[in-house]
Amino acid sequence: MHIDILTCLPRLIESPFSDSILKRAQTKNLVTVNIIDLRQYATNKHRTTDDYAFGGGAGMVMTIEPIDNCLTDLKSKRTYDDIIYMSPDGERLSQPLANELSLKKNLILLCGHYKGVDERVRQHLVTREISIGDYVLSGGELAAAVVADAIVRLIPGVLSDETSALSDSFQDNLIAPPVYTRPAEYKGWTVPEVLLSGHQAKIEEWRHEQSLERTQKRRPELLQKP
Ligand code: ADE
Repeated sequence: MHIDILTCLPRLIESPFSDSILKRAQTKNLVTVNIIDLRQYATNKHRTTDDYAFGGGAGMVMTIEPIDNCLTDLKSKRTYDDIIYMSPDGERLSQPLANELSLKKNLILLCGHYKGVDERVRQHLVTREISIGDYVLSGGELAAAVVADAIVRLIPGVLSDETSALSDSFQDNLIAPPVYTRPAEYKGWTVPEVLLSGHQAKIEEWRHEQSLERTQKRRPELLQKP
């Protein structure tokens, strides 16, 4: 998979990709992530990528030209499955949506900043909009990092334990069961006996019951979903 992330503030998004699972996925060549500074595609003297809003009002708007120039350049090199604009108005990120996106080959994530992008970018250039929740961030960069993380960890081979992405919370509309590690007793706080029993079938049964119980208690609405 290849992901291009377009931003006017590249530093805001660089670090999530230089550590842990996102880094390992790139080192293993399972994904390439390219962070692109939109200023490179600005044609004006000061390489600005924003301007005042027509009609007035506070806040700058990202201009269409650098975004269009950048997209034209990228599209001359690859075919993209989706050009995604990160926006609080978009389709809400969920595990099924992350699963769907993890099957794509080439994706563009466009990060808005300030007041967002000129509406014509949304009308004519992007194919999809994604929100990570009903709150407004200062820009799309952190949201793009969240989307990229949720997708990349699902690519086969990225996680060392192949089954662990499948046993995540939400993968089957259930919250993940509790996990424990050594020591088996700490300050008198013990680990459930069954986990130390070595009886795999009983352990799986216990985990499933715990998942159901937790979901019922914390997120009962998940159990209503088809
Ligand atoms: N940009 C600003 N807020 C956002 C959100 N909640 N989701 C995605 N992109 C955003």
